[in-house]
Amino acid sequence: MINKKVVTLNEFIIEEQKGFPYATGELSSLLRDIVFAAKLVNREVNKAGLVDILGTTGSSNVHGEEVKKLDVFAHEQFVNSLRTSGECCGVASEESPDFLSFDNERAKNAKYVVCIDPLDGSSNIDVNVSIGTIFSILERKTISGPCVLEDFLQAGFRQVAAGYVVYGAATLLVYTTGDGVNGFTLDPSIGEFCLSHPDIKIPEKGKIYSINESYRARFADSVNQFVDYCKVEDKASNRPYSCRYIGSMVADFHRNLLKGGIFMYPAMSTHPNGKLRLLYECNPMAFIIEQAGGLATSGEQRIMEISPQELHQRTPIFIGSKEMVYKVVEYINQEKLVGSVNGVSH
Ligand code: AHG
Ligand code: MN
Ligand code: MN
Repeated sequence: MINKKVVTLNEFIIEEQKGFPYATGELSSLLRDIVFAAKLVNREVNKAGLVDILGTTGSSNVHGEEVKKLDVFAHEQFVNSLRTSGECCGVASEESPDFLSFDNERAKNAKYVVCIDPLDGSSNIDVNVSIGTIFSILERKTISGPCVLEDFLQAGFRQVAAGYVVYGAATLLVYTTGDGVNGFTLDPSIGEFCLSHPDIKIPEKGKIYSINESYRARFADSVNQFVDYCKVEDKASNRPYSCRYIGSMVADFHRNLLKGGIFMYPAMSTHPNGKLRLLYECNPMAFIIEQAGGLATSGEQRIMEISPQELHQRTPIFIGSKEMVYKVVEYINQEKLVGSVNGVSH
């Protein structure tokens, strides 16, 4: 039997860099630093049941949510790795109210900033259900010196790379630098991420819808109409679609990316901008989905064209297979039209 050559993530990054003759290797190096921290987080996630890492720190994060120990641990690992990287001048993390500016000599003049959700799906930590990390890399706007807020407040189409790690039955890293999407599975026996999902494309017609329907009473009618549409029996369009909702965006997104589907976290009467954060949850996932042939919208506009005003800004999101995103937008536009005809303001 001929063994297929295994391509490790490091080899892949080097090959990808060769495609850009003027690349200096800084982005490659930054990606490797993120991956290194992800391995440390993975190790901790795997033994979460064995050591006293479960439970809460007793404090809340900037959004008033309970912070679990693993969130803090993950935040620290990524920040430490990025601080010493020399390629990153600052980080915006879900777990920190302000961005962190690195002041050592090399970091101060580094080209990139990183926005990160160090631990996504934290309510699933202590029940051994998949959780993740989401990251977005931007080129800073300022040239040198300590980074400033405007370095982070950039629209998603300016991202130079984005990715996520799923700590699941296996640990996977999926990322893009704007030239397609590739997935790597961690082989724990050698401690390397190996190319397992080259050039991922999301099916145009999905069969899965993911939404926390318990908030139905808080959603716009158009969103509920789309959900009802998903449930209708119709052979021609393969309906009813399946409902799948894990409660870890990374895991829900990953499944839908591979199988075809739509993930939704809409606006609610109680949360007009939904729950998920633009800079380190929605933008990176939007970059990945578009690179995989799908779409991401807030219902009003393309996620990656939103011009951020705040570090922890939230946005409604509908993300996934093209046809499904088109369909929900159709319902949203219809509702707006009916609203304007009836003189109802939105
Ligand atoms: P985080 O753990 O980073 O706060 O993110 C949790 C998010 C996201 O992963 C998930 O899709 C969503 O919260 C679930 O929220 P609901 O429980 O409101 O459905
Ligand atoms: Mn999250
Ligand atoms: Mn988080």
